Amino acid sequence: MKNQTLFPLHNKGERAEAPHPAPQKSQDSTSAGVPQAHARRVYIETYGCQMNVSDSELIAGILTQSGHQTVSHIDDADVVLVNTCAIRENAETKVINRLQQLNHRKRRHPELIIGVCGCMAQHLRDRLLEVAPYVDMVMGPDAYRNLPMALNAVTSRDPFLGLRLDKSEDYADIASIRKEGIRAWLTIQRGCDKMCTFCIVPFVRGRERSLPLKLLVEDVEKLVEQGFKEVVLLGQTVNSYRDNGHDFGELLYAVSEVNGLERLRFTSPHPADATESMIDAIASCPRVCKHLHLPLQSGSTAVLERMRRTYTAEEYRALVEKLRERIPNIVLTTDIIVGFCGETEAEFMQTYHTMAEIRYDSAFMFKYSERAGTLAHKALPDDVPETEKGRRLKEIIELQEKISADINRALVGETVAVLVEGESRRDAENYHGKTDGFKTTVFPKQDSQIGDIVNVRVNNTTAHTLIGQISNIPCGGQQSLRL
Ligand code: 5AD
Repeated sequence: MKNQTLFPLHNKGERAEAPHPAPQKSQDSTSAGVPQAHARRVYIETYGCQMNVSDSELIAGILTQSGHQTVSHIDDADVVLVNTCAIRENAETKVINRLQQLNHRKRRHPELIIGVCGCMAQHLRDRLLEVAPYVDMVMGPDAYRNLPMALNAVTSRDPFLGLRLDKSEDYADIASIRKEGIRAWLTIQRGCDKMCTFCIVPFVRGRERSLPLKLLVEDVEKLVEQGFKEVVLLGQTVNSYRDNGHDFGELLYAVSEVNGLERLRFTSPHPADATESMIDAIASCPRVCKHLHLPLQSGSTAVLERMRRTYTAEEYRALVEKLRERIPNIVLTTDIIVGFCGETEAEFMQTYHTMAEIRYDSAFMFKYSERAGTLAHKALPDDVPETEKGRRLKEIIELQEKISADINRALVGETVAVLVEGESRRDAENYHGKTDGFKTTVFPKQDSQIGDIVNVRVNNTTAHTLIGQISNIPCGGQQSLRL
């Protein structure tokens, strides 16, 4: 992360300027009431989804605007902020373990400030201090504006709690600070109104709010100016986006027209909000990638009802059929939960058969994890035994691995357009990048450059990777071949 000097907070709808790389030490002035004598060096550690990655970039923006610095090595930090996830129990367990490690560090450096941000902070609230009493700050997703103030306040003995959810908080005036790269994530909507019974998100991220379309288009223009080639629009149910009558389809059209943008993606849409306008935009905007991550969760209508997903398995299948008719070769991926409350073997098998029928390119698959505070926790017993959840998960993983491997194998001999992202971790002679359908592809560099779109002939595949070689010179602009 880069350092940045003072930037005043701007009015809503108007963003502060993008960061300047010049690092500066503390100054004797104040911004937003923060005495700069206390400028801190902050290391941010991120767990969980892309939304959290995006929130960490926002936190970096807020801190640097008020005169603090972010640092990329923990040894250089006097504050560690852990940005957390609460979606499943193991996400929280991981963070608790990490906090214990940080406590060892704090014993060696007693002045170290430890802050917990994000969904787990909001979920556990002050109970977090019972398990981790050495934590100095607990800040939920709508409290980041108070981080500079909290950093000052923790000089006293009491921890700082920022846990108020605020429906009007969209951080529209804050300029996030991103690492340089090819792909930028852009939050277009915060919170969630869907109330799926298994899900903690509405309780920890509050109600849904969308950012203004005009501002988002300007953001994408700035991202392109900064050198990003691909933008991923983020929201909990990203396609329920709405701004003054503009829907998600219109946003896709508007953003995809930004000059110089190569690719546009979004995640994650909700099947119930898959409108004609969204499908039209994917079908007709060349820069919108032909990839849809469309969480199914369960193939059983009865389970979907208990989950309050607001669609039936039949409606979902009809949507997939429509998508494949309108956008041939669309790459479909999904999320699945097994072992949800009351899931019978027959209901599980409906999920299995739906996955076998739809043949997703890939899937994220989870065992149901009961979350305190959710509607399911209050009303439905978590009655599928852990071993049974494990068995069901293993079965669908095996099924999906086979499907993914088969789909990829069929691509041998084809040419795919790949946006080059960076050097392969395994072999510095190779680059890796993604196809339009978000498949990781590895190939010898030849004359290509990071940021190019190159045509790669696929020679070999696994369930998760395509391996090939550049089949012609880099095309640089819009690709003709999509996958
Ligand atoms: N247990 C297991 N998986 C969950 N997800 C959300 N909540 C839970 C839970 N309580 C999964 C869903 C969602 C993805 C982000 O995480 O599949 O789409």
